[in-house]
Amino acid sequence: MSNNIKRRAFLGTSSAFVAGTLMASPLSGKALSKGNKIKTALVGTGVRGTSFWGKTLVQDFPDIIEFVGLCDINPGRLEYARGYIGVDCPTFTDFEKMIRECKPDLVIVTTKDSTHHEFIIKGLDMGCDVLTEKPLTTDEVKCQAILDAERRSGNKLIVGFNYRWGPYITKIKELLQSDAIGKITSVDFHWYLNTYHGASYFRRWHGLRQSGGSLWVHKATHHFDLLNWWLNSDPEEVFAYGDLEHYGSNGPFRGENCRTCAHKSECKFYWDITKDKRAMDLYVKNEQHDGYIRDNCLFRPEINIYDKMSAQIKYRDNTYVNYSLTTYSPYEGWKISFNGMNGRIDAWLDIPFMNNAYVSQSDMHELEMSQEDENLHRDPVIVQKLWSDYKVHNVDYQKGGHGGGDKLLHEQIFKTPGKPDPFDRPAGVRDGAMSILIGIAARKSIESGHPVRIAELTDLEPRVRRI
Ligand SMILES: NC(=O)c1ccc[n+]([C@@H]2O[C@H](COP(=O)([O-])OP(=O)(O)OC[C@H]3O[C@@H](n4cnc5c(N)ncnc54)[C@H](O)[C@@H]3O)[C@@H](O)[C@H]2O)c1
Repeated sequence: MSNNIKRRAFLGTSSAFVAGTLMASPLSGKALSKGNKIKTALVGTGVRGTSFWGKTLVQDFPDIIEFVGLCDINPGRLEYARGYIGVDCPTFTDFEKMIRECKPDLVIVTTKDSTHHEFIIKGLDMGCDVLTEKPLTTDEVKCQAILDAERRSGNKLIVGFNYRWGPYITKIKELLQSDAIGKITSVDFHWYLNTYHGASYFRRWHGLRQSGGSLWVHKATHHFDLLNWWLNSDPEEVFAYGDLEHYGSNGPFRGENCRTCAHKSECKFYWDITKDKRAMDLYVKNEQHDGYIRDNCLFRPEINIYDKMSAQIKYRDNTYVNYSLTTYSPYEGWKISFNGMNGRIDAWLDIPFMNNAYVSQSDMHELEMSQEDENLHRDPVIVQKLWSDYKVHNVDYQKGGHGGGDKLLHEQIFKTPGKPDPFDRPAGVRDGAMSILIGIAARKSIESGHPVRIAELTDLEPRVRRI
């Protein structure tokens, strides 16, 4: 452990405020140091903002957090959000006005991805700490602007990477960190979205590259962050392929949206939004304000993102990664294999036949979206050293949202902000940047037909060791 890291760990235990000035994780050292509640303002009162960063925070941290303002461009959704979250703070359609009038310690950003930079930068420059949902942003120019704002403002920015906190995923980190299979040389990582979850991205703004940066950024930022963190090295170069072959203009027919579609009976993707009260309250009842259609046709021709994606990533420590993302798999799940100098680790989640189980894909999607999976899960990670038999490490955990990561992420941010984490799970701006830069490089590689170097995108220099 370097002296620098030891010192950070020591400071982390001694004072949340001091730690807050040095570590990426603790937010609002200012408020905590005064023994006050964290005055919190939220921008983007959609499904994630009102639930995980709204209602859940109000319920779970009443002594720590006080909502002082909510902001969105849709006044109808804002009004609904105030009731759903359970707060009586003022609402705004003008972000700067909210910050000036409410003077929050902390701004939570849960808007559409392509707008994150605007609120992150204004929030930091107006004296707030900022907590943003992933992805940090959608292109390298906005990414550089965020890096600059964080440096000049001296305020803190963290990215809510929840997957790192899932117990199964943490177990892989623990094994890698303990050198279970020696130096990692290559990785195969494949993520499969089923025809419920995968399709959901093509129904709304995520289907437009200008709004979500494509799934290379919107979705794969999670996976690239895990890779960077597991490997503890920075990405150096990316080569990628991608295409749109299933959704968008490839569909055999199309309609305006599911509600009015003439092909309801023959379309396997037909979704009756009117049966989903929450989606009706959030979106349909507020369509007249901004034209946001939640049950859009996923065969609409304006969809301009990829639905199959494959990349090779070379890390600074010379690890090679083969990565793929599929958006129309019959089952949802993922697989990863790490090849090391002394052995191999295999891990996977949710793949029905590997667990010898029947899984209803629609029920699974609903459970994941509701974040209410109370079931206990037991899943294996396989470690096999060279010249030895394999060993099974069973991980027992409760899933909840995002593999059980959502709840633990909240606790770390709001309950134990200064506590050193043995697995280095708190994520800061550099982590947010490095994960999206892989996706941005992949996009550029597909467009140019050439490998793209991460160092060309912003002023961040890839390191052999992340920390
Ligand atoms: N970490 C995770 O696992 C996870 C899960 C879901 C969503 N997210 C992220 O959360 C964010 C929100 O996703 P969502 O599913 O709630 O989307 P959503 O469409 O339900 O909500 C987005 C909200 O932002 C508002 N908005 C858009 N542009 C705005 C602007 N310029 N100013 C103010 N408000 C604006 C919209 O009106 C809407 O209410 C996204 O960045 C997404 O990537 C993360």
